[in-house]
Amino acid sequence: MILETDTVINNLKNALQKADSVKAVQQVKTRFLGKKGTITAAVKKIGALPPEKRRDAGQKLNQIKKTAETLIKDKMNNLQTAGAATPSGNTAAIKMPGRSHSRGSIHPLTIIKDEIISRFNKMGFLTVEGPEIEKEYYNFEALNIPAYHPARDTQDSFYIQDDYLLRTQTSPVQPRIMEKTPPPIAVVCPGRVFRRDTVDASHSPVFHQIEGLFIDKNISMADLKGLLHHFCKSMFGEDVKIRFRPDYFPFTEPSCEIAISCPLCKGSGCSTCQNEGWIEILGAGLVNPKVLSASGIDPEVYSGLAFGMGIERIAMIKYSIPDIRLFFDNNYKFLKQFV
Ligand code: DAH
Repeated sequence: MILETDTVINNLKNALQKADSVKAVQQVKTRFLGKKGTITAAVKKIGALPPEKRRDAGQKLNQIKKTAETLIKDKMNNLQTAGAATPSGNTAAIKMPGRSHSRGSIHPLTIIKDEIISRFNKMGFLTVEGPEIEKEYYNFEALNIPAYHPARDTQDSFYIQDDYLLRTQTSPVQPRIMEKTPPPIAVVCPGRVFRRDTVDASHSPVFHQIEGLFIDKNISMADLKGLLHHFCKSMFGEDVKIRFRPDYFPFTEPSCEIAISCPLCKGSGCSTCQNEGWIEILGAGLVNPKVLSASGIDPEVYSGLAFGMGIERIAMIKYSIPDIRLFFDNNYKFLKQFV
């Protein structure tokens, strides 16, 4: 007998078991089926056999060859479907993961803006927006801000031309809405505002505000207090204390400033509240009757409340962020912390 079937096939099986790459399988194939391979060599010897033995030997060798080919093919398929190899024998390449697209995260200012807005939306306030390039009239006159007010100075605001500027506050959305909409009105107006401030840890020439306006019959300070009380508690927690103090804004009368007890130190004093125990978060008041009439609303019939807050400030309190510049630096490590 030229080759013992069992021995050949067992040898082949052993060799294939050890082969852990395509390259190794190809080497096994050469060893058995290549030009000088064991099986090929045996086939060549058939001619030297006595004629009566050739037929048998030929059939047997054919069988061995077929079995060997099937075993090798199966092994190759196994390696490839397991992703263990490439035709070059490089076992790593097929397994290599595709380029992953890292998932973005929502900017902290957007998270806080959405949180604030959704609280007011739930109380029936609609969201409206106004232009960033604003007419001097809406930014100042319509809000009862006199010509001598420092914000009207070109040193303090970014003027585009004589009567257009980058709005310094979101308050101009108030007269824009009042001119167009008969009361009752209940709106919140988020957006970007611009001031000629030098950048430092708490100032940025571009920042964000949310304005609120509620016009109806018989709106009083009690409504203002109730509304903002509810907002502060839902935003900063039930145990937060709220302080209302008189203030001055040309577009509200009376005006007030609202502070909350520092949510970090609970009022005992820390760097976030500059050891005051309180942090101012809002300006507010009852809409000045002059502002109502300038926008075509009769102050004898209607009254209203208004408020405005800085989104950066609220975000800095909520996330204990010490420097406003972090919001605008686009530092990926900073931004990806917020989900
Ligand atoms: N616009 C004011 C500012 O930028 C904030 C403000 C105060 C808005 C009182 C109001 C308000 O609506 O009633 O400082």
